[in-house]
Amino acid sequence: MKLIKLSSITKKLAVGALAAFLLVFLPFHMGMNFCILRQDGGEWYRNVCHFMGTNWIVKVFEVILLLCVVCHIVITVVLAVENKSARPVGYAVSQKSKTHTGSKWMIYTGCIILVFLVIHFVDFYFAKTGLVEGKYVAKVEKVDKAFQQKAQALQQGQMDEKQMQKLQQQYMAIQSIPADKRTQDFKYFVNLTSQDVQTYCGEDFKDYEPDFYHMAIDKFHNPLYVIIYLLAFIVLGIHLFHGVVSVFQTYGLMNEKYAKAIHCLAVIYAIVIPLGFAMVPLHVIMF
Ligand code: HEM
Repeated sequence: MKLIKLSSITKKLAVGALAAFLLVFLPFHMGMNFCILRQDGGEWYRNVCHFMGTNWIVKVFEVILLLCVVCHIVITVVLAVENKSARPVGYAVSQKSKTHTGSKWMIYTGCIILVFLVIHFVDFYFAKTGLVEGKYVAKVEKVDKAFQQKAQALQQGQMDEKQMQKLQQQYMAIQSIPADKRTQDFKYFVNLTSQDVQTYCGEDFKDYEPDFYHMAIDKFHNPLYVIIYLLAFIVLGIHLFHGVVSVFQTYGLMNEKYAKAIHCLAVIYAIVIPLGFAMVPLHVIMF
């Protein structure tokens, strides 16, 4: 049965190329997350996220990345189904090679990572797209500018009673804003719910961004989330180890000369990446 009209070899090569791209993305993502570890109230992470959320090259890269994730999943599932239907009975003598045992687990570890990704996207990515409620950050300078424009309109008599009252309420709210909703230097309003955005920035204020720092801190103060993430990172490690080896195998680079070095690289990658990711939830819940 051919679910996608490409030869199995082409599909394998495509999976390998997509996997290689994802293997490069992970160290970047991990490096970004390290900014959360700084005891700076989220300043570095806020700046990195602002850059990632506003730079058009990064936005193009993000679309490519999401397409890669989807294609990687679809093609691997298709390959698994085709392999199963090509040999429904299985081998008379079971293959005990290390590679075979590893690849047998890839589909299961892959499914667990997919469940993790769904949770992860609901946690973070969906808040950016507005699909779920998140935490938000707004630059005080921009809020102030919008406020001054309204104050000007008020002076010129272009506001009705209701709008005037709202402006007064916003002014009062900002005067008594709690310390956890602003940075110490008063440059940013942070940790805002969407209700807070209306209260402190005004109902028609749209120039705010997701506050991924406070979202992460909130999530990882919950032990259940920390456990889910840590378990996912262990599974990710197993998936990555075989993934790295597989990419080299698919492209015919696994020979006697390089096999040891490739396995060594796979072990290092599969330990360092999950450990690096794990440092964030562990740091948040412990300190
Ligand atoms: C402590 C661990 C992690 C944290 C705190 C974290 C945080 C985040 C945040 C805040 C975003 C949204 C960024 C944005 O849209 O600008 C994001 C997106 C994403 N994360 Fe993670 N992440 C973690 C682990 C992982 C892992 C292990 C994977 C892969 C298995 C992963 C895959 C992704 C993907 C594919 C996206 C969407 C692409 C993007 O927007 O960059 N994340 N993550």
